[in-house]
Amino acid sequence: MDPRTKVVFLSVACVCVGLVVGVLIGYFSGSSGRVDTAGAGESQGDLGTLLAEGDGWVSEALMTEIDQARIEEYLRKLTEKPHLAGTEGSYTLAEYVRRTWLEQGLDSAHIAPYRVLLSYPDPDKQSYVALLDGNDNELFRSAPHEPSLDLDPPANISSVVPPFAAYSPSGTVEGDLVYVNYGRTSDFTQLESMGVTVAGKIAIARYGKTSRGRKLRRCQLRGALGLIVYSDPADTVGTGPAASGRPLYPRGWFGPGTAVQRGHYLYGQVEGEPLTPGYPAKDYMFRLNESESDPLPSIPAHPIGYNDAWHLLSAMEGPDAPSSWRGGLNITYRLGPGLQASGRARKVRLQVNVNREVRPIHNVIGVIRGRLEPDRYVLLGNHRDAWNLGGVDPSSGTSSLLEVSRAFGAMVKRGWRPRRSLVFCSWDAEEYGMHGSFEWVEDLGKILTERAVAYLNVDMAVRATYSLRGRASPQLAPALLEAAKKVPWPVSAPEGKTMYDVWRKRTPEIDDDPDTKPRVDLPRSGSDFAPFVHRIGVPSIDLAFFHVGIWDYPLYPLYHTAYATFHLQKKIIDPDFLFHRAMSQLWAETARSLADALLLPLRLSEYGTVLGGMLADLETRYGDQLAVRGISLETLTSAVNNFTTAAEAFDAEVTDAKITNPFVARMYNDQLMQLERAFIDPQGLPGRKFYKHTIMASRLYSSATFPALGDATYLAVNSEEGTEGAWRNVQKELSVITFTIQSAANTLTALELTS
Ligand SMILES: *[C@@H]1O[C@H](CO)[C@@H](O)[C@H](O)[C@H]1NC(C)=O
Ligand SMILES: *[C@@H]1O[C@H](CO)[C@@H](O)[C@H](O)[C@H]1NC(C)=O
Ligand SMILES: *[C@@H]1O[C@H](CO)[C@@H](O)[C@H](O)[C@H]1NC(C)=O
Ligand SMILES: *[C@@H]1O[C@H](CO)[C@@H](O)[C@H](O)[C@H]1NC(C)=O
Ligand SMILES: [Zn+2]
Repeated sequence: MDPRTKVVFLSVACVCVGLVVGVLIGYFSGSSGRVDTAGAGESQGDLGTLLAEGDGWVSEALMTEIDQARIEEYLRKLTEKPHLAGTEGSYTLAEYVRRTWLEQGLDSAHIAPYRVLLSYPDPDKQSYVALLDGNDNELFRSAPHEPSLDLDPPANISSVVPPFAAYSPSGTVEGDLVYVNYGRTSDFTQLESMGVTVAGKIAIARYGKTSRGRKLRRCQLRGALGLIVYSDPADTVGTGPAASGRPLYPRGWFGPGTAVQRGHYLYGQVEGEPLTPGYPAKDYMFRLNESESDPLPSIPAHPIGYNDAWHLLSAMEGPDAPSSWRGGLNITYRLGPGLQASGRARKVRLQVNVNREVRPIHNVIGVIRGRLEPDRYVLLGNHRDAWNLGGVDPSSGTSSLLEVSRAFGAMVKRGWRPRRSLVFCSWDAEEYGMHGSFEWVEDLGKILTERAVAYLNVDMAVRATYSLRGRASPQLAPALLEAAKKVPWPVSAPEGKTMYDVWRKRTPEIDDDPDTKPRVDLPRSGSDFAPFVHRIGVPSIDLAFFHVGIWDYPLYPLYHTAYATFHLQKKIIDPDFLFHRAMSQLWAETARSLADALLLPLRLSEYGTVLGGMLADLETRYGDQLAVRGISLETLTSAVNNFTTAAEAFDAEVTDAKITNPFVARMYNDQLMQLERAFIDPQGLPGRKFYKHTIMASRLYSSATFPALGDATYLAVNSEEGTEGAWRNVQKELSVITFTIQSAANTLTALELTS
């Protein structure tokens, strides 16, 4: 029997059982042991109800319900006080979110606490960078915090945590300075080729291009004493004649010289909390000693703004920095080491007073229980903790989330209930390394693996208003694009009326193609979708309104500074909160379509396109070298083709299916939902056991192909010694990815265990 015939055969075969058991599902579904009556009425359990599509009116009603004035009020409330993870401020907002969700009509809302390692500046001892003269007198000392500004409405930034490098060890180091540009591996290679090293020196790096933790680890590995990181005006204001005209905060969106970016300096991304890697940080969980935890840094670091950096950089000695290393300050950028003999400064002191502490954090989880499939979850999440008052990151997302949940609650009050459950998540301690979401996913991993349909994340909902940045697992992209066609672009735009129109014109998938779709990237890293993607393979989406296209710096200039206030949104970014409303509409409609449709709106052939692209990249980049080694890509090509064929056939079958049996719907939906799990390798990637997603994992060496195979091939091609071992690794990774892709294809075809 051909597999498609088997599907039909089995579909028919299970109709009889299905009718009976389907009705039982209706009565006894979910952990509560009963189905919700709201919306189901007396027809509960009959076949028509089990097979019904979502109520047609809800999509439109949800959109209309979402109200920008309420989002503004939520944001005003959320940005009144600091809400740093592990502090009273964050707990107070956790309670506020929980209460709000109950008031809005969610069925339940609870706090999910964990105890995690966090990091705070010593309240009594300032961290700073200083220039010292020959007698150790201080000539200059960096500012303890960003100065307050007179604003209407006021923003009390004096209560925001002072700038610091979270998880830095405390300590004082003194010595010469070396400028390392962005602190990328390529920067260190170039520096060393010019005969300059950071060993025994204090490094100074500018923010951007690579994570804080990686900058610090690279310095640590090369024997640096410590690291100073600053925001260069080239990155936060721009360069060229236009730069001087760009308005700085509080007049505008660009970074003033007093603004300092906070952040965590852990190395790595997907371990979760540093002392309980891989397991939830519950009270009874075994904890590593700090000395045993790999992501924690061992040399001190401290961030400063560009006014303070000017004092350090302008005093430096040594060769001129290469032209691409020069930033936007009015000085000659030099590499160091050492300070100019003509000046009085003789050395730099870096003093860091930062403590690590295990403290409680509080996720909030709110649920609207599904009417027919309460054991299938569509999750919407955003983190709540902030380094600052949270005007953008994350409270623009939190205010949008609260409006999405309110709109859904209003629909419930009107008698609607989604087919599947909606789960709203307010994460804590994202800023410290996504601890809230990681610990929760570690804790509930088995349940989520079985039941999570999709995870939809919004972090900084509105950081600018130029275009939409959409990231999605391939099979989810079509549902996102469909929702974007329903959401109006909030202001009049020459590109069109809907979000889809403007998005595809301003950030096209293919440049200069009039028929292009909008650009949708893969959700690889950067916010709370990471545990869902990398640990358990839940298809995920991440959304933001952003500026790229008009401004290159990928983060907005005031990111993690004290100046990301309510004022920044109200007076500068989104005064009428129309983009916040549009984000809530897009988020809500995407979630509704996933929660309500009889058959999940996932398109698996999109995954085939992504795999095909990765294969093509591998062939272009390394095909010749692989051929010389006698390594054939034939089997991998066969697996990719098998996957593509299976995915296309599956999509076609689902599209054409006339569903008369709820068990058949459930069977298709399970296959749709579980496909992403097939790309999870429980063993993880080589040397990176917590990166379990074989397609979405970050790649260590830039390339657009399969992560582990691409990295292994890069190493084999570029290694001088021991190439036999390196080529053996290529063979191994080639076979692993081939097996994984073919296994994924099998989940779409084989209903019997015949092969
Ligand atoms: C600002 O916050 C600090 C710390 O919470 C508080 O002591 C101070 O009174 C606040 N200032 C204003 C003007 O609200
Ligand atoms: C971990 O810490 C405990 C208590 O401080 C100490 O007894 C033990 O020797 C440490 N173990 C390691 C491996 O550092
Ligand atoms: C150079 O830049 C620094 C830091 O932004 C500033 O304080 C100083 O006034 C500037 N000097 C000149 C001559 O523009
Ligand atoms: C692809 O499918 C064909 C036909 O079923 C099969 O012979 C081949 O072994 C499959 N490829 C892989 C890599 O398993
Ligand atoms: Zn954030």
